[in-house]
Amino acid sequence: MKLNIAVLPGDGIGPEVTNQAVKALKAIAAEFNHHFVFTTADVGAIAIDNHKDPLPDATLDICKANDAILFGAIGHPKYDNDPSAKVRPEQGLLKLRKELGLFANIRPVKAYQTLLDKSPLKKHIIEGTDISIYRELTGGIYFGEKHLSEDGNSASDLCAYSKEEIERIAHLAFKAAENRNHKVTLVDKANVLESSRLWRRVVTEISEQYSEVELDFLFVDNAAMQMILNPKQFDVILTENMFGDIISDEASVIGGSIGLLASASVGEKYAMFEPIHGSYPQATGKGIANPIASILSAAMLLEHFELFSEAELLRLAVEKSLKLDISTPDVNTKYDNVTTTRVGEFIEDFIYNPKDKNINFTNIHLGQSTII
Ligand code: IPM
Ligand code: MG
Repeated sequence: MKLNIAVLPGDGIGPEVTNQAVKALKAIAAEFNHHFVFTTADVGAIAIDNHKDPLPDATLDICKANDAILFGAIGHPKYDNDPSAKVRPEQGLLKLRKELGLFANIRPVKAYQTLLDKSPLKKHIIEGTDISIYRELTGGIYFGEKHLSEDGNSASDLCAYSKEEIERIAHLAFKAAENRNHKVTLVDKANVLESSRLWRRVVTEISEQYSEVELDFLFVDNAAMQMILNPKQFDVILTENMFGDIISDEASVIGGSIGLLASASVGEKYAMFEPIHGSYPQATGKGIANPIASILSAAMLLEHFELFSEAELLRLAVEKSLKLDISTPDVNTKYDNVTTTRVGEFIEDFIYNPKDKNINFTNIHLGQSTII
């Protein structure tokens, strides 16, 4: 298969982790005789520095001209600490989502067997957790009318949703549940917000078309508690933009590190794949950033194009790396010197030598100190 992939590494650790995902995709292409062509473009703070625009037209054009987008991370402390900044890196990502119509953000959360001890949560609570969060991505408070009074003393952000915006993501969530554990939990704040009451009404109507899927409701405050109290109760979580943003960061604790969580953002026409973590400026260039979230986002990209064996091999490589502690310090309690690049190289090697996968591990493991 020929695939044109736009690569938007962005800021901070974005380039380091995205490089490893590209490396893995190149290995997959070579092993399976695909032709993947990568085109890199600026987004975020780096795009402000280079082009005075967090999403230059040239970048948007490249995204539209390609089959898929692999996104790194954006954000820079110089903007975080300056509330008066008019141009901000995040605007690049939000505009990209809106312009490409990426209305559904799918964030899988899984407790890896090999990482159960790495989570601060108790093993018996997280073991077996397998959640798919469907976060609405182009509406709600993120995109509603914003207002700052002239004297700068009052401000507001409007949370608005239409029936159509709710319907289209609800269908995706119910379809996903049909192929999973047949349960959708709608997370909202319907006891307070009018927009949440609309979500409840519309999602309830849609649920009638999916008789095999059970629909459940949770207020977001309760959902935040349930997520760490009993995450196994969840199958598909459906929620609006900001609740999904918050609850998915919380859910990342289950996996042991936010550096493991991948996501796919899809719309009618375009698809973008990105880790859920941010640009982690403190770690930039230190080789400690976990590339797994980016690599698993690449696996979701492969699945999007129905390259299932390819994605499976990539996931297997990731699981082996975690099992052998060939992983960055955020999830590694054994070795403290495994770098971002080393993880990427291990995964690349594994893909190129899948036949050796049962033979070489002991050697790799024993030779750890020399290999790293
Ligand atoms: C995410 C991020 C973004 C969001 C930021 C960087 C704008 O937190 O993708 O979860 O809030 O959507
Ligand atoms: Mg977020």
